[in-house]
Amino acid sequence: MSSLSLEGIEFLTSERGQAALARELPAEGLAALTALRGEGFSPAEAGWLLEQRELRARAERKLPAADVARMLFLKEALEQASAHEVATWRAQKLAGRRVLEVGAALGADSAALARAGCALVACELDPVRAALLRHNLAALGLSERVEVHPGDGLERAAGGGWDALYADPARRRGGKRVLGLEAMAPPLSALRERARADLLVKVAPGLDLSEVPRDLGLELVSLRGELKEALLTGGALRRPGPRAVLLGGDAPWELAPEGSEPPPRTADPGAFLFEPDPAVIRAGLVRALGQRLDAWQLDPRIAFLSGDAPSETPGARCWRVLRHGPYRRKEVSQWLRAEGAGRVIVKQRGTRQDAAALEKRLPRQAGGPLRWLFLARTDAGPLALLCADLED
Ligand SMILES: C[S@@+](CC[C@H](N)C(=O)[O-])C[C@H]1O[C@@H](n2cnc3c(N)ncnc32)[C@H](O)[C@@H]1O
Repeated sequence: MSSLSLEGIEFLTSERGQAALARELPAEGLAALTALRGEGFSPAEAGWLLEQRELRARAERKLPAADVARMLFLKEALEQASAHEVATWRAQKLAGRRVLEVGAALGADSAALARAGCALVACELDPVRAALLRHNLAALGLSERVEVHPGDGLERAAGGGWDALYADPARRRGGKRVLGLEAMAPPLSALRERARADLLVKVAPGLDLSEVPRDLGLELVSLRGELKEALLTGGALRRPGPRAVLLGGDAPWELAPEGSEPPPRTADPGAFLFEPDPAVIRAGLVRALGQRLDAWQLDPRIAFLSGDAPSETPGARCWRVLRHGPYRRKEVSQWLRAEGAGRVIVKQRGTRQDAAALEKRLPRQAGGPLRWLFLARTDAGPLALLCADLED
């Protein structure tokens, strides 16, 4: 799974290992290795130190730098770890509760739960990950609030001492991603059997939505416009859905279905174009957002919305429509020349166009303003919209 073993963790957590981790090393890998070898570190020790340096740099993309500087990482566990803002938002749902966490890995979620005032039993089956978990929680000063259980969380569930269950099951098998709720480890049904009451299960946002049991809620979560996870909610934590939760702004922004889905409303483009956040799209709430914005779809199957007024909603990005018409490359090139467009970003939904390839072929004028070309599938053929940023 990783080059890091229990022996490696023992070294990295020793005084010698910690001192070496805290020191500056040459930026270049070979020079750093030579420096470490010159100081008497064995090849394995130098390898573990350099791996941590690389993983810490990656970890700073999802965790606070002050935490990262104290934690240890495993490559695959870091890839699976929740981003700090998502973990913090999720942990608030369980604030102050006695929580059993099944599948804690290196503890990104455990730290957020402990900081939300939970009394936590954090379970991790894999011995190397469990050792990292123990180290990380201690290094973050959170050990007092957490009982680390190095073993099967499903078995520990029977031991009691908790009233809500949180699980982030493993969704990789033999290096491949699995999406099925019963293919995860542990599977959803096993978690539900243990959770007598309140339950949160983090799953992949690409899951088959029809697999979600009817008595569980579903929240699709994005962070700064990137779809991050789907959260299954049970017991008192369940809320009507599917709902979209957008994080990364001043406060979480949510969209939930209000009764039945609004009827489809399609028409030609208005003065503004909206691209809904991926969480809104994945939650099937494009029409609901359209209703809020007084906007309509360009095609009932395509997630672009258009309207006569701009909006600063976090639920969608908004552009000013400069020109629109059936997509013909020659015509679009003429539009761009007439507008004196500089760089053009192409986005398409439902057409066969290769956006990246088209972007390279379109004319651009040096020093001209950035323009956006949207291509949308419609029954009448692909539709092109040339747009500008609102502030342009
Ligand atoms: C996706 S990772 C969890 C990541 C973690 N939430 C984070 O943010 O760092 C899933 C973990 O579940 C562990 N796991 C799988 N089945 C388990 C079980 N029955 N009991 C405890 N841990 C288990 C795996 O070893 C793996 O480390």
